[in-house]
Amino acid sequence: WPVDAETKTTRSKSRFNKVVVVRVEPGKLDEATLAKSVEGVIAFSSVCTHQACAVTGWIPEDAMLACPCHGSLFSVGEGGKVLGGPARKRLPILPLAVDADGMLTVADAFTAKVGPAAQT
Ligand code: FES
Repeated sequence: WPVDAETKTTRSKSRFNKVVVVRVEPGKLDEATLAKSVEGVIAFSSVCTHQACAVTGWIPEDAMLACPCHGSLFSVGEGGKVLGGPARKRLPILPLAVDADGMLTVADAFTAKVGPAAQT
């Protein structure tokens, strides 16, 4: 769960705030994704963009996150791009930075709306 740096509030009241944090070789991240990471550590929303299951699977050899519900696959190196399964929207990134004390911190809001795309 993210923690508000100023208030120290853990943002755990909504599962839509839950993140999955992974670390990969920085060279495996595209430029846009690298800019939102710290030394290969990157945080994504863990809410699947298909039907909002928790994205809990990790395939390290391909640096992919996997949703166990219907098998959507998301590329870590390409900023959460969908690589397979029924999801149509990439996983939002929670941009990271390092503060003056060397602590990993949230640098900005999620890069897109968390969860499934709105139904039309
Ligand atoms: S909810 Fe994740 S693939 Fe369907």
